[in-house]
Amino acid sequence: MFFVKLGSSCLSPFIERLFHCVGANHRQAGYCSLTGAKQNLERLFYLIEFAKLSLPVQPLCTQRIIMTQLTITKPDDWHLHFRDGHLLDETVPATARCFERAIVMPNLVPPVTTKAQALDYRSRILAAAHKYSHTNAASFTPLMTLYLTNDTTPATIREAISAEIPAAKLYPAGATTNSDAAVSGIEALYPVFESMSDVGMLLLIHGEVTETDVDIFDREKQFIDQHLDPIRRRFPDLKVVFEHITTADAADYVLQGGDSLAATITPQHLLLNRNDLLVGGIRPHNYCLPVLKRNTHQRRLQEVVASGASCFFLGTDSAPHTKHAKENCCGCAGCYSAWSAIELYAKVFENLGVLEKLEGFASHYGPDFYGLARNTDTITLAKEAWKVPEQITLANGDDIVPFFAGQTLDWKLVS
Ligand code: DOR
Ligand code: ZN
Repeated sequence: MFFVKLGSSCLSPFIERLFHCVGANHRQAGYCSLTGAKQNLERLFYLIEFAKLSLPVQPLCTQRIIMTQLTITKPDDWHLHFRDGHLLDETVPATARCFERAIVMPNLVPPVTTKAQALDYRSRILAAAHKYSHTNAASFTPLMTLYLTNDTTPATIREAISAEIPAAKLYPAGATTNSDAAVSGIEALYPVFESMSDVGMLLLIHGEVTETDVDIFDREKQFIDQHLDPIRRRFPDLKVVFEHITTADAADYVLQGGDSLAATITPQHLLLNRNDLLVGGIRPHNYCLPVLKRNTHQRRLQEVVASGASCFFLGTDSAPHTKHAKENCCGCAGCYSAWSAIELYAKVFENLGVLEKLEGFASHYGPDFYGLARNTDTITLAKEAWKVPEQITLANGDDIVPFFAGQTLDWKLVS
């Protein structure tokens, strides 16, 4: 449902009839709500403009239609990093304020490699959520993942699926934060992929090659050719999520990949390109992996989400590091976006003129691909300016600079 605000001069009997024609079901003091798609709004606006031109009805609409509220099915975050210990008191409520479920990455130290570790971690996340049950966190559901290593076996997978662990994550060794324990020689894991395909566990992939002689901007494309495509040809029924894609190559590969392939896209890769990392000084809080790419890639990502293709869905890759670890001569990769995640995506979709496509991306396509039910609750965003905090201070005194710190956003979660 969309809420729109019209100039007060719209309230002529003729305009009231137009509201009725396009299905407006409530109108009061210049506000009206329309069920259905943006086409309804466009039709209404067109009719009002038409009326202004062709009929002697005065006064007529003098203001553009502005969407002021947006209510969508409650979204899920299909890729994030909560970390562990005291950080859960920060990260879990920050995500649960707007997301019902989240796929929790397993790159802890040591990594989450077994069912038992995943269930323990799940309990710690739930304990943190329950501490904040006065917020939305009471209903929050973490979806756990296993970290694949060269020691993972088909038995590990069968055990995990019996505990409803829906997915396992493939990090090529050395690709990113805490991935030293990860897989070297991906083919060695083919028996594991086979069992995942058999039991219906999803394979989540950090898709970058790690050879030192491959340029960092080419690592995603090379991963597709060297590893992703061979895996998918060998295991056509294995459901694969190509995580946090950053290039046109990845977007186009996913588009033609059929029903068993999907991708998550982060807010930073939709909002920014490598100029935002490197021009006018290095911006460590925009540094993440895979690294931001050139603007042509950013535009292709924007195009595919604007198209409403259901193989792309929301995954923030929200990944906190302390301010000190980011603003460092060897700064860590990761953008902590949980504080503004859904609002940032709303900004993207609004800028692209396709706000009505946000709901599919944020709330429908993820559960559909995972084979889970869509959420039944809703959230409402209002057009209301607010500033992302400059920094957050944790209970232990450490500071974290959230993604988009100090910047003003004009959509705000209100319920
Ligand atoms: O930027 C990133 N940070 N990319 C990843 O893949 C991992 C994450 C983290 O864990 O910090
Ligand atoms: Zn990640």
